[in-house]
Amino acid sequence: MLNEVSIGNSTLRTPPIGIGAWQWGDTAMWGYGRAYGRADVEAAFYAAIGTGLRLIDTAEVYGAGQSERIVGDLVRQTDQPVIVATKFAPLPTRIGRRTVLRALNDSLSRLGLAQIDLYQVHWPFPIIPIEMLMDILADAVDAGKVRYIGVSNYSEAQMRRAHAALAGRGLPLVSNQVEYSLLHRTPEVNGVWAACQELGVTLIAYSPLAKGLLSGKYKPGSPPPGLRALMRKHNGSALERIQPVIQLLTDIGAAHGGKSPAQVALNWLARQPSVIPIPGAKNAAQAGANAGAIGWDLTTDEADSLSQATLEWRQ
Ligand SMILES: NC(=O)c1ccc[n+]([C@@H]2O[C@H](COP(=O)([O-])OP(=O)(O)OC[C@H]3O[C@@H](n4cnc5c(N)ncnc54)[C@H](OP(=O)(O)O)[C@@H]3O)[C@@H](O)[C@H]2O)c1
Repeated sequence: MLNEVSIGNSTLRTPPIGIGAWQWGDTAMWGYGRAYGRADVEAAFYAAIGTGLRLIDTAEVYGAGQSERIVGDLVRQTDQPVIVATKFAPLPTRIGRRTVLRALNDSLSRLGLAQIDLYQVHWPFPIIPIEMLMDILADAVDAGKVRYIGVSNYSEAQMRRAHAALAGRGLPLVSNQVEYSLLHRTPEVNGVWAACQELGVTLIAYSPLAKGLLSGKYKPGSPPPGLRALMRKHNGSALERIQPVIQLLTDIGAAHGGKSPAQVALNWLARQPSVIPIPGAKNAAQAGANAGAIGWDLTTDEADSLSQATLEWRQ
């Protein structure tokens, strides 16, 4: 039985690691339908759920709705408890209450559900003021279409505004989903993580494996496939720079009976207060391995040595 944590000030409880579902249906970034497909992601779902994981993160933009459809099909098939988190995409064409509610209804219909457990605003909205947007989402809670509200990619100031606006409606802001990993420690220095702890908001950590880099399988000369190879963090010199971190993860994993670098990296994140990483997985092997990142503890010395070794990514 895995330990469980609450998501913010909500009744939603989950082991301190979730499942990212961007990979489920997305071809452009992840190659869904080429190197892996529906059977693989279904197996990933059952591998994760079978270990007791239950927080699944999707978004209306992932695979242009395909990820929500797959998540919905799977959630409706299982009798295991699942927390469905999806995201509203604040596109510039969505300028009013009606367009937000239409997007919510479309997500509900793709998911085949009457209610979304956690509805997140995918990125800060340039058009609708935060207070007005939170008011619209609070109405969706009152209407029973959404259980809890979260945000994503919000700065400290933006999440404080969202939190205050919802508090005015008697509702909690339960999460801010931002990029956080050993190779991207910005939330520690930009005020987001501290504000999460102060306000009782869960920091849902996306790209917790730095899009696969922390698995250690990518090296100079063998970069990740597809669009990732074009990213600054994934080029030859960046891959060179992370090798000492991978070596440390490997050494620490060896001291824990052969935990993989990815498992050690995820354990480091999951042990932080108010943080829930949501690694993406393409197949059952990855999902099962990621679930094995919790249920055991790094020592304080090991965690500190990882923090020290990744100071250059703390900016
Ligand atoms: N809110 C946002 O703006 C935002 C942005 C990005 C992501 N997200 C969410 O966060 C989730 C996770 O982030 P992410 O997908 O960007 O990156 P990630 O979780 O850091 O990396 C996922 C990738 O790493 C590789 N991988 C996963 N588990 C592995 C294992 N055990 N061993 C070896 N390789 C493994 C797989 O790719 P390969 O096998 O191809 O290497 C997988 O697709 C997404 O699914 C999505 O739900 C949200």
